[in-house]
Amino acid sequence: MVAMKKTTLVLGTLAALAVLALTVGGLVIYRGTYDISATSQHLQPVHSLLETTMRQSVRLRARDIATPPLDDVQRLARGAALFRDHCVQCHGAPGVAQSGFGQSMQPVPGPLVDALQRWRPREIYWITRHGIKMSGMPAWQFRLDDEALWDVVAFVNLLPTLSPQAYAQATRDAGPAPRRADAAPLRAGQVERGKLALGQYACQACHTIPGITSSSPNVGPPLAGLASRSHIAGKLANTPENLVVWVRDPKAVKPQTAMPDMGVSELDARDMAAYLATLR
Ligand code: HEC
Ligand code: HEC
Repeated sequence: MVAMKKTTLVLGTLAALAVLALTVGGLVIYRGTYDISATSQHLQPVHSLLETTMRQSVRLRARDIATPPLDDVQRLARGAALFRDHCVQCHGAPGVAQSGFGQSMQPVPGPLVDALQRWRPREIYWITRHGIKMSGMPAWQFRLDDEALWDVVAFVNLLPTLSPQAYAQATRDAGPAPRRADAAPLRAGQVERGKLALGQYACQACHTIPGITSSSPNVGPPLAGLASRSHIAGKLANTPENLVVWVRDPKAVKPQTAMPDMGVSELDARDMAAYLATLR
């Protein structure tokens, strides 16, 4: 009897605490109490918690990645050019400040000269490839091919040893950055990769697309049921080949269209078409 009363009391207290927590949480969210501005700092404990979550997440996911040799001179030269074109704007470099938008981000992207104290090369590769959600670190998987990703990791590895003069010289001498190899052999479209590609080319910024999280934008038509439509943009017969044509160069199909050229490669467009074909 007594034991049962005790259990009821404990359960009752827990339920009351849960209701209280939900109410406080709800008030903070719905009354707009939480300051989401990038001019307000995270509290130090919150910042540390977020950082630990990020570190552990990266470590787990990068565990099994094999690292190629990183000290090849040509690889380092390509890495220098890639770093100069894609990373220094946010992260800065020896003797170079990051640009204005890099300086005023929250969390602020740090100089990568000390990245090796926290990360193994395979983890830097993973971060560069996948980006970091809810920070400004972009994913480069669809912008740089695998070789280029390792090139830039190799250069980040070298960074702590470079004086400002050596950095300036390395990036000056490096020539143009390698372009993404779009020469990957063409194959039939892959549905799952297509879904990933739609997100990585920001199609959901304008279209509501089933299966892809977005704020339900209304700039372009919703793509639900696309596979059942007879025409694409009212112009082209709806075939997978035509969908690739449209996605890669909408203006060539319809000169006045508001849909921009998103710089989609042929292979990525095929994969997107494969996913869009599942939207009946
Ligand atoms: C638009 C800005 C932006 C660009 C461009 C950018 N980054 Fe980042 N990066 C960030 C932000 C923001 C973070 C997260 C900082 C944090 O959470 O502490 C970050 C974090 C990182 C980290 C983890 C850093 C650490 O010290 O723990 C690495 C490594 C990294 N970026 C590499 C790169 C590389 C390599 C490139 C170029 C291919 C690049 N970043 C381009 C914004 C950027
Ligand atoms: C800046 C906004 C914007 C972005 C980003 C965008 N679109 Fe569009 N899209 C449009 C607009 C506007 C239309 C309507 C075009 C028209 O009919 O002239 C459209 C039309 C389409 C259509 C034809 C829809 C139909 O009902 O016929 C498809 C398919 C499509 N977009 C796919 C994509 C894909 C895939 C991407 C990403 C690579 C993308 N869009 C990115 C604005 C955008």
